[in-house]
Amino acid sequence: MVFPAFLFNYNFFEKRGCLKLTSLSDEVTTNEAGHLTIGGVDTLKLVSKYGSPLIAYDVSKIKSQISHFKQAFIDADVPYRVTYASKAFSAVAMYQLVAGEGLGCDVVSGGELVAALKGGMPAKRIEFHGNNKLPIELEMAVDAQIGCIVVDNFQEIAYLDKILKEKDTTISVVVRVAPGIEAETHKYISTGQENSKFGFDVHSGQAKKALKELLDNPRMNVLGVHCHIGSQIFAARGFVMAVDKMVSLLQQWHEEFGFSAKLLNLGGGFGARYVDSDAPSPAEDFVKQIIAEVKEKIAAANLEFPEIWIEPGRSLVAEAGSTLYTVGSRKDVEGVCHFVAVDGGMGDNIRPALYQAKYDAILANKPHALKEQIVTVVGKYCESGDILVKDALLPITHPGDILAVPSTGAYGYTMASNYNRNPRPAVVFCEDGQDKLIIRRETYDDLLSYDLGL
Ligand code: LLP
Repeated sequence: MVFPAFLFNYNFFEKRGCLKLTSLSDEVTTNEAGHLTIGGVDTLKLVSKYGSPLIAYDVSKIKSQISHFKQAFIDADVPYRVTYASKAFSAVAMYQLVAGEGLGCDVVSGGELVAALKGGMPAKRIEFHGNNKLPIELEMAVDAQIGCIVVDNFQEIAYLDKILKEKDTTISVVVRVAPGIEAETHKYISTGQENSKFGFDVHSGQAKKALKELLDNPRMNVLGVHCHIGSQIFAARGFVMAVDKMVSLLQQWHEEFGFSAKLLNLGGGFGARYVDSDAPSPAEDFVKQIIAEVKEKIAAANLEFPEIWIEPGRSLVAEAGSTLYTVGSRKDVEGVCHFVAVDGGMGDNIRPALYQAKYDAILANKPHALKEQIVTVVGKYCESGDILVKDALLPITHPGDILAVPSTGAYGYTMASNYNRNPRPAVVFCEDGQDKLIIRRETYDDLLSYDLGL
């Protein structure tokens, strides 16, 4: 059953003189029992089967986002690759899923690389990112003969050169540049500006020097250029500006070095919806505008048309994931605040503490009960900043209630920690009424297994 937007809309209730309502949920799916469902599975059953906190993905939402991105390229009939930025959610099952959907993936560590290979991602569809790739990680990438290494800095070129000589082999590379564009997002997740730690700066001539070094190296096959302007970006404007800068760079490089890029990688950063007020452009709108700009600028520069690559992470998985918690204690300070505490917190979702990220909450056991109280949903960690949802409009909660925090599918599990020695949660994929555990819950034995004592 889908409840219409107005039922959860702040203005609807406020105009009728009810309590202030701030719920994000313009639609929640429920079953006959009146429980929230995810991928057709009863969330209460999920918690009784796997415990809480539990991260549950609606797999059909991931697949639908993938197909929106792909379809926009197919409709425009241009060569492309959609590469999943797996830092958003790295799990063997996730690599299996995206590989099956024909995507490539981006990895940023040896750990992500082994997980991607374990998930059956074809090595040739893997690209390796990072501002300080370790020699051992570069060696792993060369041994696996992955699709390309996105070269970030001069030290990396030196390491790579040494490894390639030692192994008497070659590898394909892409030059990462910082195009000097400030994305309209949180400063911690903005990466394209001149003072970014990532990539070769264009303005100072670093990027050109790097290209020359790479072109002069017979063991490195330069496929093209890459930029990533930031994350959680809602409008295509920044990407269009990036296309302009990148194509003009390619034009200069073509004139100076006769370099013809086979691919133009514009990174990821497409926004997701966390709360009602978030309004990211749909995937296909981003892609359409990017393609239109590439077509125009490449034609004007009279360059060979490159394959267009994008690297969405968050936009593929954020909205598909929800975290299910069990409500425990509460603290009410009349006239001041109401705290509702759950059995997880900053250990499974650091984003509110780190980026002031906003989320909403839904009472999974009675999602359509009257929402009559604004509460602060807090976790169980020993930090006052352990806040999951600042102003959640909820029905009166009781211990044992199941609380769902939607849109936790990106940078939740992958940024999870064992702070306070809390085990990390389990993760489950749900689709067509079926559930599949894809990451088991950590145990206390797991947590002690690295600890050697005196
Ligand atoms: N490509 C590159 C080179 C990146 O650095 C990133 C993200 C992506 C693609 C994917 O960006 P996305 O489509 O997911 O926005 N932990 C932060 C986000 C950090 C993003 C880092 N780089 C957060 O929770 O918001």
